[in-house]
Amino acid sequence: MIAQVKDKFHQLFEKDPVIVTSPGRINLIGEHTDYNEGFVLPAAIDKKIIYAIALNGTDTCNVYALFNNEQRSFSLKDIKPGEGWINYLMGVVYQLQQRGFEMKGFDCVVSGDIPIGAGMSSSAAVEGGLVVALDHLLGLGLGRMEMARIGQLAEHTFPGVKCGIMDQFANLHGRKDQVMLLDCRSLEFQYFPFEFSAAYKIVLCNSMVHHSLASSEYNVRRAQCEEGVEVLRAYYPGIRSLRDLNAEQVEQYKDKLSPKVYDRCLFVTQENERVGKACAHLQKNELDEVGRLMYASHEGLSRLYEVSCPELDFLAGLARERPEVAGARMMGGGFGGCTINLVEADKVDEFISFIQSRYNEKFGKVPEVYVTSIEDGAKIN
Ligand code: GLA
Repeated sequence: MIAQVKDKFHQLFEKDPVIVTSPGRINLIGEHTDYNEGFVLPAAIDKKIIYAIALNGTDTCNVYALFNNEQRSFSLKDIKPGEGWINYLMGVVYQLQQRGFEMKGFDCVVSGDIPIGAGMSSSAAVEGGLVVALDHLLGLGLGRMEMARIGQLAEHTFPGVKCGIMDQFANLHGRKDQVMLLDCRSLEFQYFPFEFSAAYKIVLCNSMVHHSLASSEYNVRRAQCEEGVEVLRAYYPGIRSLRDLNAEQVEQYKDKLSPKVYDRCLFVTQENERVGKACAHLQKNELDEVGRLMYASHEGLSRLYEVSCPELDFLAGLARERPEVAGARMMGGGFGGCTINLVEADKVDEFISFIQSRYNEKFGKVPEVYVTSIEDGAKIN
């Protein structure tokens, strides 16, 4: 893949590029907790975006996307939100300008194998890869967390998704064979070895439902959580986010919240508690217990947070039938995309054919399945 991107770059721009690889991510558990200042447990994976990029001595940025063979350009003098994928790049450049960095024009070719809209965060990979590239080419000296924040703000201001920090964080801090526990308030984080990689594989099953509702409904969920905090602050003075409450505290004031807002708040507080428990079990190598928490997370995402869909529920249900699966749940923003499944390594093939045939019988399409590995974060190659 790198060779292909390089070749295209040489063909279009006739000079030598810098190569950046920028991974997608999984999240073991802790969904929709990041923008509530809670906890997440993600990792960077082997699916990635690749950039071939070089400065061009002008005020124009030329970007060729190999996944749809489309070339787009924008001027550094007038960056504002436009149509489609170029927003993710323009957003990054705009955010760097906002921080006072002098930007320079560049040529680049971008490609990759992260399925789009599959909950593996191709957008954070596009953003993170470009920040890493520009930091290197312009000698900006940015720290990794600062880069993640730039990617997150790019996403807020250009595509307009008010995402948390998890995806950009994972993309930029990933480390081979380690999951990361991130406190999304303090931004402190800790690596946990994922010791099971020989015995268990992380298998992603793509519902092939493109999560088109995701951005609008995502912002609605975020607003509902904020509304819950506003109401509950009358009873728990000084709380800043759902991170400051546990599930019992939310249950105590159920009648003060609208039913939907109550469900959202209950889910987030329960999910935060699940992340804590999952880490304790990971440290004791109790993968079955982690798996049980994953199933509970799926239930909550489906029933209380309402970000699943029939296809994802079906995939999680299929996993539950299989003894070789320790746990499974929908992953990412929701409304489509993938489930994450922890599957005994020597039974992966069996699992994949079971899932594909049963899903095909029900929905008339064969889900793509990706057996992933945990890898390093975005880097210059
Ligand atoms: C998307 C967002 C993340 C996070 C997840 C849900 O991937 O980009 O910030 O909120 O959804 O956990």
